[in-house]
Amino acid sequence: MADIVVLGSLNADLVVSAERAPEGGETVTGADFAVFNGGKGANQAFAAARLGGEVAMLGRVGDDDYGRNLKEGLVTVGASVEGVASIEGVTTGVAAITVEDSGENRIVVVPGANGAYSPAELEKDVAFFEGAKLALFQLETPLETVAMGLDLARLAGCITLLDPAPARRLEDAILRKVDYLTPNLSELSVLSGESLGEESSEAEIVQAARSLLTFGVGKVLAKLGARGAVLVEENGYERIFAASVKAVDSTGAGDCFNGAFAAALSRGVVPVEAARFACSAASMAVKRPGAQSSFPSLEEVLQGLR
Ligand SMILES: Nc1ncnc2c1ncn2[C@@H]1O[C@H](COP(=O)(O)OP(=O)(O)OP(=O)(O)O)[C@@H](O)[C@H]1O
Ligand SMILES: [Mg+2]
Repeated sequence: MADIVVLGSLNADLVVSAERAPEGGETVTGADFAVFNGGKGANQAFAAARLGGEVAMLGRVGDDDYGRNLKEGLVTVGASVEGVASIEGVTTGVAAITVEDSGENRIVVVPGANGAYSPAELEKDVAFFEGAKLALFQLETPLETVAMGLDLARLAGCITLLDPAPARRLEDAILRKVDYLTPNLSELSVLSGESLGEESSEAEIVQAARSLLTFGVGKVLAKLGARGAVLVEENGYERIFAASVKAVDSTGAGDCFNGAFAAALSRGVVPVEAARFACSAASMAVKRPGAQSSFPSLEEVLQGLR
């Protein structure tokens, strides 16, 4: 039995780099191509397991090498992938990413098997929630499946975390089932209906987060990039500052943050300390290129906190 259940997406990130992206009907010669394991669900499971959490991943892949590689990557850090079945006749989720020399990205995401992880499929995985302490969700799997997962998690007595990414508005019926909501600034803006940006003050951010508590969210842990994070509860808030680092590639930093937060909570660390641990882990992930490949080990994070 795992302490942490992560229900979410597994994607192969197919990254092509070229001086510039082609126009319609045009062909350009690229400089490089690589395939990386990704998807918000897989990234969060990877981070939590790498940081010592006992993790079971729930999701779906296609019967292809991308799916096999994603599962293998998770097994490498000790996560269980028994709850990652493959579905015949669909592709593993892929993100086709073109990176231009200017740093501009163009991304086409094909949900594939992630999109086929229906409530009927989740029915097969109900047992994974029994005995778990925490359940993590994001929004790259069908919303009905996320909603059902939240119900199953609650029934099993799990603490629930929802990363509301990619950004979309959510009904109160979903928000009510969430113990920790972990938006970044733009997701917080979409969910609260307040216009927020880099220049927003701490007071404005806290007020937007607090407005979500009225819909029944337990706590809001907002991710503020280089500014760190803020943990907002009914009776107050705690600001967590990020270490000042030279940012190289922030891809997956938010996922590292969520996985790290869950790993710490599962060890019984109090929420504000778990958020500090998460900030420290995520700041290390931005110092290195890649997503999963940039996530730090437990020793590194503990050393950074000393
Ligand atoms: N430039 C930075 N310096 C230090 N820490 C950073 C930096 N950027 C991000 N972080 C850390 O990573 C965490 C998550 O980053 P961010 O707020 O960008 O989340 P996100 O937008 O959800 O990321 P993602 O796009 O990867 O999902 C931050 O709360 C912070 O701890
Ligand atoms: Mg994010």
